[in-house]
Amino acid sequence: MARTPLIAGNWKMNLDHVEAIGSVQKFAFSLPKDYYEKVDVAYMVPFTDIRTIQTLVEGDKLQVTYGAQDISKHESGAFTGEVSGKMLAKLGCSYVVIGHSERREHHAETDAVVHLKVKAALAAGLAPIVCVGESSETRAAGEHLAFVTRQVAAALEGLSAEELAHAVIAYEPVWAIGTGKTATPDQAQAVHALLRAQLHHAASEHAAGIRILYGGSMNAANAAELLAQPDIDGGLIGGAALKAADFLKIVAAAA
Ligand code: PGA
Repeated sequence: MARTPLIAGNWKMNLDHVEAIGSVQKFAFSLPKDYYEKVDVAYMVPFTDIRTIQTLVEGDKLQVTYGAQDISKHESGAFTGEVSGKMLAKLGCSYVVIGHSERREHHAETDAVVHLKVKAALAAGLAPIVCVGESSETRAAGEHLAFVTRQVAAALEGLSAEELAHAVIAYEPVWAIGTGKTATPDQAQAVHALLRAQLHHAASEHAAGIRILYGGSMNAANAAELLAQPDIDGGLIGGAALKAADFLKIVAAAA
């Protein structure tokens, strides 16, 4: 099954709603139109940028999608500071990043919380981009494959094959995030191939269509080599997504 690559920019806590307009417009007006048939582009932005991006995308009929970097595991109610899946869906979000290592580390998100958030996203019609990845210590101990498959199994536990078909996985080794140290194409492919086999086990008829992204210091210089691997179906891009020109080069590499 052919998988359309997905290049998702994860802005993290960068670019306010005014800066967001400039960045998305610059990107969208520079990208050759036929690229959009070959690659899906998504912006994963701060909550405060979403309404602005929705207006821009709808107003200018841009062929980019967007989403949030987190979601509440609850549907609604007395959860001060939380944002629900329904609210995100109403703003036209297509995706939501779940279980990013920064949330796991700084906000104590366990595999159980990640699982509940994946369920909340699917219930709202959003595609979860489920992040997994090992620390340098885990890799040094040779336990990274077992660690990552455990994270995926916990996040997707009990989902139907149809639900799984909407999910996106992002393999982001923690030691590669924001460090400039990218996994080699072989290192990344080895993990992606294992995850593909795992998905096959869980959702045989849909596994070949589920996109597995790589994330961790992916940039204009290394994107083509990583994306050429058979089981790397796109990227979750942090630092290099903040400048439209850099992001454009990665999208071009995917197209
Ligand atoms: P990076 O971040 O590209 O800056 O390493 C990726 C991510 O955290 O999603």
